[in-house]
Amino acid sequence: MQREQWNSQIGFLLAAVGSAIGLGNIWRFSYIAYSNGGGAFLIPYITALLTAGISMLILEFGLGHEKMGSAPLAFSRVRKGWEWLGWWSVTFVMFGIELYYTVIIAWCLSFFFFSFNLAWGSDPNNFFFNEYLKVSSGPGEIGSIRWPILISTIVIWLLNWTIVCRGLKKGIERANKIFMPFLFILMGTLVFWSLSLEGAMNGIRAYLTPDFSVLTSPKVWVDAYSQIFFDLSLGFGIMIAYSSYLPEKANLSRNALLTGTINCSFSLMSGFAVFSVLGFMATSQGKPITEVVSQSIGLAFVAYPKAVSLIPGGKIFGAIFFLSLVLAGLSSSISIIEAFSSSMVDKFNIPKKKLVTVLCGMGLLGSVIFTCQGGLYWLDITDHFLSHYGLVVVGILECLLLGWVFDIKKLREHINGISSIQLGLWWDRLIKYFIPVILSVIFISDVYREIKSPYEGYSWTSLICIGFGWIVVTLATAVIISLKPWRRGIGD
Ligand code: ALA
Repeated sequence: MQREQWNSQIGFLLAAVGSAIGLGNIWRFSYIAYSNGGGAFLIPYITALLTAGISMLILEFGLGHEKMGSAPLAFSRVRKGWEWLGWWSVTFVMFGIELYYTVIIAWCLSFFFFSFNLAWGSDPNNFFFNEYLKVSSGPGEIGSIRWPILISTIVIWLLNWTIVCRGLKKGIERANKIFMPFLFILMGTLVFWSLSLEGAMNGIRAYLTPDFSVLTSPKVWVDAYSQIFFDLSLGFGIMIAYSSYLPEKANLSRNALLTGTINCSFSLMSGFAVFSVLGFMATSQGKPITEVVSQSIGLAFVAYPKAVSLIPGGKIFGAIFFLSLVLAGLSSSISIIEAFSSSMVDKFNIPKKKLVTVLCGMGLLGSVIFTCQGGLYWLDITDHFLSHYGLVVVGILECLLLGWVFDIKKLREHINGISSIQLGLWWDRLIKYFIPVILSVIFISDVYREIKSPYEGYSWTSLICIGFGWIVVTLATAVIISLKPWRRGIGD
């Protein structure tokens, strides 16, 4: 059967950019940059982009394109016994990351509507944690479903379903062709507006003034490399599936360079919007900026609403901010569903529409746990384990498999044969040595930190049952699926 194909290269590029630009770019990047030395963080961040991010993107684009398959098919065409790795990545992403990712988009959707009447009142912190989430005392007390959150989550799953069900060209490609330009316009407006606020420059100074002393801290480098991985959707299986839909002639390395550059420029831009607003808040409340910067979740759902209440015309400002988050989030979440469904279609030849309907239904059911009162803790733990251990381990194994088991030179020649930017021996070396070593350092330092003090002070029982449990269950599922026979055969 003929593999689906993008309508145009620009359609593919927008979809790849849409997957990369997500919730992580708008508020997580700003917070991480600030807590890691402000302007100085841009040095490790850009180094990580150049030494690992773009090279890994080229690797995933090349793999999907050369092997013409989703992650499990591509890996099994490289070496039969490695199919499980593809399944594991798409499974923990679809039945882990996606389940809470859609709930965060749902919060953004609610906050988009709340912006119009400033529903958070004078105390956004109390509103978010005690009225909207009604958080319980800990992960062990799951509490009851928060219906406003669940309803919003249903809307998000319906949107996902509507887009992915329509297929590659009419669904994903078309949605990204609308979402991406719209998102850039919204973000541009936000940056322009926020820079004109009184005190904005104080925030920009905090954002850009480099504290070079932090560059000697390994944590800053670890954070930069992990941020690049999540940011560019590496190890998600998405970029492999997306590039498998490209025609024979496709400018792979140029598309990877463009995807990486656009994604990171977007992060830098949103940093300007977030920090100008924090500067404005600090000035209007007569507080130092350090007092208005809160932890990552608080930044979007507490600090921003607070600012929106103070800005002249703030309701529209808030609506634009939360709508940007919804659009950025949706374009990433549809890519996650596509990566999983494309794997299932490759292996079991299931009709796509039916499959996507079942997947979205299962996804919605899985999301319910994160809409409960204890959902915030579950989200925090799952996110920590899956993004720190899942993605990093997939990245290491991907490099080892492609760099050492497969002939990386063959892949480079394939990419060079169709791309305008030529890769040299340096690329092989990055994939074979540098990236797996750097990812292993991240992995070991994370494990070490974890053992020294359990993440965020949660009990070991919660961390093992929720975080570790998620890893083990998705891994076991991946192995079981990989043992089933291919309905279509894998070819070579
Ligand atoms: N790359 C997506 C993000 O940054 C997953 O949110």
